[in-house]
Amino acid sequence: MKEKQGRLIVFEGVEGSGKSTQLRRLQQWFIDSGWQRLLNAAGHCPRLILTREPGGTELGSRIRQLLLGDQTQEPMQDRAELLLYAADRAQHVDGLLKPGLAEGAIILCDRYTDSTVAYQGYGRGLDLDLIHRLNQIATRGLESDLTLWLDLDAAVGLARTRQRGTCDRMEQADLAFHQRVQQGFAILAQTYPQRIVRIDASRPEFEVAGQIQTVLSQRFEAWYGMKARR
Ligand code: TMP
Repeated sequence: MKEKQGRLIVFEGVEGSGKSTQLRRLQQWFIDSGWQRLLNAAGHCPRLILTREPGGTELGSRIRQLLLGDQTQEPMQDRAELLLYAADRAQHVDGLLKPGLAEGAIILCDRYTDSTVAYQGYGRGLDLDLIHRLNQIATRGLESDLTLWLDLDAAVGLARTRQRGTCDRMEQADLAFHQRVQQGFAILAQTYPQRIVRIDASRPEFEVAGQIQTVLSQRFEAWYGMKARR
């Protein structure tokens, strides 16, 4: 294996923005486009890891259940919510992300630190400095190599989610909350234009997939110094 430093690619966006669908499509594209074969042939690690926050580890699955599962009579306090997301992340970074990257794997992760800034910072109104410090502690400085922000109007996304049936605790929050979250993502994308790439998620599914594949091909070419041909 030539390259021992893997890549962390994160998907972000409001509820119903299509992250999970696009992640699965991208996994298939990695094989069909020839990238997996090419990286393997060139001596790079061809492993692709799909994961998510919260819930990318065994402990994380339990934390996810606490965060999004059946609610108790007692409402969850905002700071308790923040700390649970941070605990999930610390376990994920040390238990899966860092070891995977050390092996050279390409990791596709459904949500990461920007979700905490958008949801707990802009959505709940918790102190942004505190969130940045907590993200730093939970990640020990591990940033994504690329974040794809699936930009979709919060009302459209929420309507899609509600059509699907039962809503979890976060999805049940009102539209104004989700609009603040969306605004948070927009501010993050403006602040970190190198790391965060905006994808127009209002387009049909196959077009969104096409936008993502174009960005990924360019990044792979830059990272690995080669071009894939089908
Ligand atoms: P999802 O994985 O199905 O998108 O659900 C995760 C939910 O958790 C979603 O509502 C966003 C929310 N969330 C936060 O509020 N803060 C975070 O740091 C993360 C990772 C997710």
